Amino acid sequence: MNPLNHVAIIMDGNGRWGLKYKNSRNAGHKEGLKTVEKIINETIKNRIKFLTLYAFSTENWKRPKKEINYLFNLLENFLNNRLEDINKQNIRIKILGYKKFSSKLNKLLNLAEKKTSKNSKLQINLALNYGSKTELINAFKKIYKKKGKINEKNLEKNLQTYNIPDPDLLIRTGNTKRLSNFLLWQLAYAEIFFEKKLWPAFTEKEYKKIIKEFRSIKRNFGKI
Ligand code: FPP
Repeated sequence: MNPLNHVAIIMDGNGRWGLKYKNSRNAGHKEGLKTVEKIINETIKNRIKFLTLYAFSTENWKRPKKEINYLFNLLENFLNNRLEDINKQNIRIKILGYKKFSSKLNKLLNLAEKKTSKNSKLQINLALNYGSKTELINAFKKIYKKKGKINEKNLEKNLQTYNIPDPDLLIRTGNTKRLSNFLLWQLAYAEIFFEKKLWPAFTEKEYKKIIKEFRSIKRNFGKI
């Protein structure tokens, strides 16, 4: 049975779900947050130590301002309402990506990271304003500046995921098969599951099914 230490998720399909059932993309984001809560609980139940959620990419800035504001309000309310509880549940929050939001949200994200930094049951990496190409370029720049050697170990030390093991499993919901500039280096050996269901409709049942299938795969890592 494969050990499962780190699950990464591209939570796609909020907009389509919202338009289909509530005539509003933002309603899909609101419903998507409920799925986030369910999946966090199921991740803990399965004793998985790292969960990385792609919540906002560097490309998502191209969306209408109204949708962007809605997403960040949702995140702000979520942290304001749930941070105490998250901390009590021994969950650590880490942000991947550059915190270039309103000063209020930046402060809240810093607080969430600081307050939960010693927690050890589950680490949730929230990818916000995250783009893998930018992350890689900046890692190379940092090495170059320090006149360091270009090798795997050095590169990994300079990525935003330093000290986080690579994902074993990537799930993308929403019936689309692409990586969308997400953890391009770190996913080199991940098992990838593309799920037809839109993120708000994704349930613990489908998640458990994927975990079960993942556990039974023969993972070779290039060997035979
Ligand atoms: C992709 O669906 C989803 C996002 C860009 C945002 C993800 C946000 C959430 C799940 C809710 C908030 C989360 C937190 C952690 C507060 P899409 O809008 O691209 O869907 P579409 O492909 O149907 O348009």
